[in-house]
Amino acid sequence: MALREIVKLPDPILKTVSSPVEAVTDDVRKLLDDMLETMYDAPGIGLAAVQVGIPKRLVVIDAVREEDEPRDPIFLINPEITWSSEETVEYEEGCLSIPEVYDNVARPAEVKVRYLDRDGEPCERHCDGLLATCVQHEIDHLNGILFIDYLTRLKRDRVVKKFSKAARQSKEPV
Ligand code: NI
Repeated sequence: MALREIVKLPDPILKTVSSPVEAVTDDVRKLLDDMLETMYDAPGIGLAAVQVGIPKRLVVIDAVREEDEPRDPIFLINPEITWSSEETVEYEEGCLSIPEVYDNVARPAEVKVRYLDRDGEPCERHCDGLLATCVQHEIDHLNGILFIDYLTRLKRDRVVKKFSKAARQSKEPV
């Protein structure tokens, strides 16, 4: 396993629609393992492949919140939401590609997600609580959508401006 570099705003790759994975090969599993290690190292609770610069429909999640609980990684290949509850819930979200920005986003409180697991087996899972929010946030990444896209335009523009400025400054010679 190896740590990968996490792509940050305003990298345009984050707006890409990721393409489906055609076969669950050892290379795909290796990438998933690298993504998981990168996510734990960050630390975060979810990571999409596009966030390490690879626009493929791959997600890793471990939404276990208590530090003393055992790890419970979920690998999602080509995930699709097949059902969403009408009831919504608000969580304060953040994103490893938008460090230190947090804001409330309302999403369906429960979803069903269909996907292939790490072995390429078809699975369906009913998600609620933090996991439901996390699954939706990560699947959004596969469609080029960021959580800041749900904020008011004013708030979103402020975040994009801040990160664009920081990126420009880091490119300037010292
Ligand atoms: Ni994110």
